[in-house]
Amino acid sequence: MKHLLSVEDLGADGIEEVMRLTDSFVEVSGRAIPKVPTLRGRTVVSLFYEESTRTRLSFETAAKRLSADTMNFSIATSSVKKGESLRDTVQTIDAMGVDAIIVRHASAGVPWQVASWVDASVINAGDGWHEHPTQALLDCYTIRERVSSLAGLRIAIVGDVKHSRVARSDVLAFTALGADVTLVAPPTLLPPSLAGWPVEVSHDVDDVLPKADVVYLLRMQRERQTEALLPSLREYTARFGLTRERARLLADDALVMHPGPMNRGVEIAAEVADLPRSVITRQVANGVAVRMAVLFLLLGAGRR
Ligand code: NCD
Repeated sequence: MKHLLSVEDLGADGIEEVMRLTDSFVEVSGRAIPKVPTLRGRTVVSLFYEESTRTRLSFETAAKRLSADTMNFSIATSSVKKGESLRDTVQTIDAMGVDAIIVRHASAGVPWQVASWVDASVINAGDGWHEHPTQALLDCYTIRERVSSLAGLRIAIVGDVKHSRVARSDVLAFTALGADVTLVAPPTLLPPSLAGWPVEVSHDVDDVLPKADVVYLLRMQRERQTEALLPSLREYTARFGLTRERARLLADDALVMHPGPMNRGVEIAAEVADLPRSVITRQVANGVAVRMAVLFLLLGAGRR
């Protein structure tokens, strides 16, 4: 595999392979010196045209734990500000002989374009509303850490599905591993068409929560909303937020997940995010090992 652009590049077998590799990188991450020489001499560049905390730092940590050299491209101080095109920018980076380019961009499809222009491996770290495959992989891994298999698991994805690349990649990955996914949102926060999505849909979170094994909350992505889709945030929280009262509807062993960044008090109550059933910081921790596995698969001995 040369690039990781979509969860579909992996399929169920590929996801399983990443999960297996991740186990060994979790072990590495737990060592006193969490570093292996696997990618020594390789160079990994982060090219983020959109804000990020977790994903960027997680990829950087992953690359460093594999002993790769890392370069961080900051749009604000680059020639992008002088009008350089995306194509010229990535071909300039590629000409320096880098091995992997990790791309985040506000437009869907950009990582595919980049892959067609460069020799390096390309990893999609989020393209518009479209996909965020490594997030889906770390989500699968985090669920598997608590529950041995996703087969038959009932997963509710609640919130702003319409603008969520995380939801799209998660639906592909969770269903590939045999989970049953229900999307829960007001009609204005669902995509205009769900044709071909292997999911159920509900507008009633109180009905779905008692039956869910996992509740996955999405951030209200206001920066991507161009029109008024909600009467108010307060109204949203009242009808769909995982408040403390609603969290009591969950089964004893049900998990609460969120990709971050959280808006505490909007889609999730502050205290619910800190309950033992919340695995949100496990998601972040596992993200590093999952991304080590992906880099290894694309650049390391796992390359094919
Ligand atoms: C998400 C993203 O940027 O796609 N965050 C992440 O990468 N963990 C989700 C979001 O922005 O809400």
